[in-house]
Amino acid sequence: MAKILISGASGLIGRALVATFNSAGHTVFSLTRRSPKPDSGCFYWDPTRRIIEIPLDTKFDVVINLAGEGIANGRWSKQRKQHLRDSRIQSTKLLGKALAASPPKLLLSASATGIYGNGGEELLSESSQEGGGFLASLAHDWEASAQVCAQELRCRLCLMRFGVVLSPHGGALGQMLLPFKLGLGGRFGNGRQWMSWIGIGDAVRAISHLINNDHIQGPVNITTPSPVINLEFTHTLARILRRPALLPIPAFLLRLIFGELADQLLLSSARVHPSRLLETGFTFEAPTLEEALCRLLMKK
Ligand SMILES: NC(=O)c1ccc[n+]([C@@H]2O[C@H](COP(=O)([O-])OP(=O)(O)OC[C@H]3O[C@@H](n4cnc5c(N)ncnc54)[C@H](OP(=O)(O)O)[C@@H]3O)[C@@H](O)[C@H]2O)c1
Repeated sequence: MAKILISGASGLIGRALVATFNSAGHTVFSLTRRSPKPDSGCFYWDPTRRIIEIPLDTKFDVVINLAGEGIANGRWSKQRKQHLRDSRIQSTKLLGKALAASPPKLLLSASATGIYGNGGEELLSESSQEGGGFLASLAHDWEASAQVCAQELRCRLCLMRFGVVLSPHGGALGQMLLPFKLGLGGRFGNGRQWMSWIGIGDAVRAISHLINNDHIQGPVNITTPSPVINLEFTHTLARILRRPALLPIPAFLLRLIFGELADQLLLSSARVHPSRLLETGFTFEAPTLEEALCRLLMKK
């Protein structure tokens, strides 16, 4: 049984990990910016003020770094872009310093398939070139800060390049559910852009796979082998909810509402292949979108 510390544990992926690790008998600790209850296994930190309150005598086997301000929570002003960067890069550096006295064996640090930029039709693996744009440079710098951290701690590092993590409880799918249930869903732009996705259950299983396989290190795409274009995603979700998808949103309107975020997140194409997961023997419980959505939406 492992001692696991998770930053950003209160988020979508973190909550699912905490529940799974607790029921598997691991001892889970978390880092949060909210005031933690005494003896809850939560430690307080405030990366903007460089405060981190991990007791000095605590040693963790695994540290999972998920903290970061929501990428899609608002338009990207210059100030907001700085917050998005600081909340990932400064916090990773702070975490590394706090762990220096008792380094873990393994650091799993979040990243995103956004690192590949707008890949068009190209099938992207971990060895593909990084792309351009704000999201790619954010992911690049976030990974670089985790690499420095792992070098200093002399620990194994996995860089988890998440695609869109699907859960009815939040994230992209959580936000789409209401309009789709009202029959107001629709493709984004021409709907030809690729979406790389993974169900929350498989994302948690993939993270456990990284923990359990000591030989895996470096970038790992956390996506299924079956990315879909946005049009197919829209039709599949609408079919499973038994609703029409009546309202395509044209690119110009997305740009008007969301600004730069529209081109880099909603209209950008990421056709990503989970090469590293597959070659290390990982199997998906829900490899197709239909299976994943049925599983997620029937559970709710
Ligand atoms: N979900 C996806 O589809 C997806 C896809 C690609 C990449 N990722 C990346 O994976 C990570 C985890 O994803 P998620 O969906 O679980 O994220 P999430 O639900 O937005 O949760 C992130 C957590 O980070 C902490 N946080 C927020 N703002 C912060 C700040 N300014 N400074 C420090 N901590 C802050 C919060 O914890 P406290 O309030 O408790 O401090 C929050 O619960 C994120 O960094 C995200 O960018 C996610």
